[in-house]
Amino acid sequence: YVIGIDLGTSAVKVLLMNQNGEVCMEISKSYPLIQEKSGYSEQNPSHWVEKTKEALSELVKKFDDNVDNIEGISFSGQMHGLVLLDENCEVLRPAILWNDTRTTKQCEEIYEIVGKEKLLSITRNPALEGFTLPKLLWVKEHESDIFKKASVFMLPKDYLRFQMTGNIHSEYSDAAGTLLLNVSEKKWSKEICELTGIDYSLCPPLIESHDCVGTIKTSFAMETGLSKETKVFAGGADNACGAIGSGILSEGKTLCSIGTSGVILSYEENKDRDFQGKVHYFNHGKENAFYTMGVTLAAGYSLSWFKDVFAENETFEDLLAGVDEIPIGANGLIFTPYLVGERTPHADSVIRGSFIGMDGAHTRKHFVRSVLEGITFSLYETIHIFRENGKTIEKIVSIGGGAKNEEWLQMQADIFNANIVKLSSEQGPGVGAAMLAAVGSGWFESLQECADVFIEEVKTYEPIKENAEKYKKLFAIYKQVYEQTTELN
Ligand code: XUL
Repeated sequence: YVIGIDLGTSAVKVLLMNQNGEVCMEISKSYPLIQEKSGYSEQNPSHWVEKTKEALSELVKKFDDNVDNIEGISFSGQMHGLVLLDENCEVLRPAILWNDTRTTKQCEEIYEIVGKEKLLSITRNPALEGFTLPKLLWVKEHESDIFKKASVFMLPKDYLRFQMTGNIHSEYSDAAGTLLLNVSEKKWSKEICELTGIDYSLCPPLIESHDCVGTIKTSFAMETGLSKETKVFAGGADNACGAIGSGILSEGKTLCSIGTSGVILSYEENKDRDFQGKVHYFNHGKENAFYTMGVTLAAGYSLSWFKDVFAENETFEDLLAGVDEIPIGANGLIFTPYLVGERTPHADSVIRGSFIGMDGAHTRKHFVRSVLEGITFSLYETIHIFRENGKTIEKIVSIGGGAKNEEWLQMQADIFNANIVKLSSEQGPGVGAAMLAAVGSGWFESLQECADVFIEEVKTYEPIKENAEKYKKLFAIYKQVYEQTTELN
C-alpha cells in the first residue's frame, strides 16, 4: 500500500491505495482559514500537522492489514503559502496562503527592481499577489523583527513533510510557484534573491517529487501508529499532483481541476514555450517536464460561499439538485466569480464579483446555475489563451468538485467546446501523491506506467453544438462585465 496526503486549503485528505490503483480508504479532516482583514488569508501550520496526524491515526486504526505493508507516503500541497521558520525550526508567524492578496505593492516593487522581462525570463511567471516572494517581501517590510529571525522559508506540504521526517527540503513543482526559482534551469535564482534582498540561505534544498527524503521519525510514527520504516517521498504542488493523478503526462493532455480555486492546465515538454506571462509556467512533478496553467481564484469557493450565505444547512448535492431544469443562461442571469479578485486573465486583486440580469421570476436554482456557468466561463478564458497561442485542446480530463455533477460536466464540454473525460476517482491530487509514492517505492518504472494501472476513464461528455452556440453568445456578454465593473470597489 501507499498513502497520498492532499494538504488542501479547507481540509487535508489522506488516501490509501493498493498496487492495483484502488482507493482503499479516504479520510478527510478540515481546518479553519483565518481572514483577519479583507484580502488576508492565513492558516496555522500546526493545524495541518494535527489534522494530518488525526487522519493518519484513524486510517491506521481502520486498516485491517499489517502497517508494515504501507510502503510509502507522499504529498500534494496547496501552493505558494509562506511558512517561516527560525533557527530552531519553530514557526515564526501564521502561514500566508495562495489566496491572500495583501501584496499588490510588493508585486509592483518586484517589477520595478527586477524588470518584467527579466522576471519572466528567469521565473517564467509574472509577479502575482498569491506567489511566495511578494509575501516574503511583505513580512520583511511590515514585520521586520520576525523576518530577521527567519532561517528558512517553506511551502505548506514541505513543512508537513518536515514535521514527519525532521528533514527540510523543497521540490521543483512547488518551488516554481515562489517566483524565486529559475524554472528552466531548476535552481533557486541567486539573481532574483540578490535584487529583491532575500538572503539565498532562506531557500531550502531542492529535490525531485519522487525522491525519498527518509523515513518517518519515531515520535510521528508513535503518534499515528505508522511504521518507522515507511518511506517518505517529496511529493508535489497540488496542481502538479492533480496532473499526475489524471494522467496529464504527455503533450496534448489538458486538465480542469476545481477545488477552492479552479485551474486549467496543460502539459509542456518544452521549457521555453512563450505565453508572454499570460498563464503560469511551472515545473511538473514528472522529472524535467512542465505545465502551463490559468487560475480562477474563486471556483469551488464561489459555490461554497453561495451555500454558506444562502443554503447553510444543505449539502452541495441538495444545492445542485435541479440545475439541469434551468435553461442555459439561467434566464438572463450572469455571475462573475471574482469574490477574491481574479488571476487569469485579469491579474486583478481588487475586482469583485457580480450577479447581472436579476428578474423577479428567478429562483435560487437560477442563481446556482449562473454560479456554475460563471465559474466555467472564467476557466474557459484560460483555454481561450491556450488556443490563441497555438495549442490544440480537444480533450480535457475533469477532476474535483466540477466532476461530481453530470450537468456541470456537460456544461464544461459545451463551454470549453471539447470532450470532457470523467475518471473513476475525482481525487486527482491525492491520487497523484500516492502515485509518486508508488513509483518512488519501485512498484513501477515511470509515472506513465503507474498511470496505466491507476487511472481509469469512465465517461466522456461531448459538446452539444446547439448548447455550445448559446454559451458562445453568453460568454461575449460575460466578458464585458469585467470592464464595466472595475470601478465598483
Ligand atoms: C495555483 C494556486 C492554487 C493553489 C490551490 O497557482 O494558487 O491553485 O495551488 O491550492
